[in-house]
Amino acid sequence: MDVRLDTKRLLLRQPRPDDALRIARLLNNFAVSGKLSRVPYPYKLSDAEWWLGTWRADKPPGETGFIIDLPGEGLIGHCGFHPDEQGVVIGYWLGEPFWNRGFMSEAAAAAIDWYFGATGVAALDSGVFAFNKASLAVQKKLGFTEISTSKRHCLARQEDLRHIETRLTRARWDEQRHGAAARETT
Ligand SMILES: CC(C)(COP(=O)(O)OP(=O)(O)OC[C@H]1O[C@@H](n2cnc3c(N)ncnc32)[C@H](O)[C@@H]1OP(=O)(O)O)[C@@H](O)C(=O)NCCC(=O)NCCS
Repeated sequence: MDVRLDTKRLLLRQPRPDDALRIARLLNNFAVSGKLSRVPYPYKLSDAEWWLGTWRADKPPGETGFIIDLPGEGLIGHCGFHPDEQGVVIGYWLGEPFWNRGFMSEAAAAAIDWYFGATGVAALDSGVFAFNKASLAVQKKLGFTEISTSKRHCLARQEDLRHIETRLTRARWDEQRHGAAARETT
């Protein structure tokens, strides 16, 4: 796929090999990697190069995603889809200097909209480690609801942690979007 999404403040685009340095710089921060299940810490340039090397343009929507660029700044994070034990899940991270400005709510909304448009699925799953209140807040704003809890391994922390699984149905997404659009025109 070669999709680019423009939001109010951000550009969501496909990764490039020269993203490695900035990805490594932003992910080599325990405040970020310690909240993700599959990202090691320390995070080296070779980890970013390996990850970028797994990228292929012909992957299905459930195995792809977007680099998040802030114009004038460059790469600030990532938002993508991957299959796991729940089904296809959305995962995301932002470099710490860019937190709490609504960027992930904006980026994830565009990515979710694209995903539901590109697939016929009835729902999209996600999840957070239970301590990750900011990420849970993002998901609740987007319309995800909690469906179960479990223990998941956190690679950076090298331990199993309480995890909350979440789900966003297409019906809820459509209702939120169309409801908001209808309210804007009245
Ligand atoms: C989670 C993350 C992506 C959020 O990105 P962001 O751009 O800061 O998110 P937003 O600004 O869109 O929204 C953050 C929300 O969390 C809330 N929040 C932030 N810190 C919080 C805390 N400690 N407790 C409760 N809510 C919190 C904010 O108030 C905001 O909600 P609001 O808009 O209703 O006020 C970012 O913090 C991050 O990358 N963290 C490290 C990696 C990570 O956790 N990834 C997700 C793994 S599931």
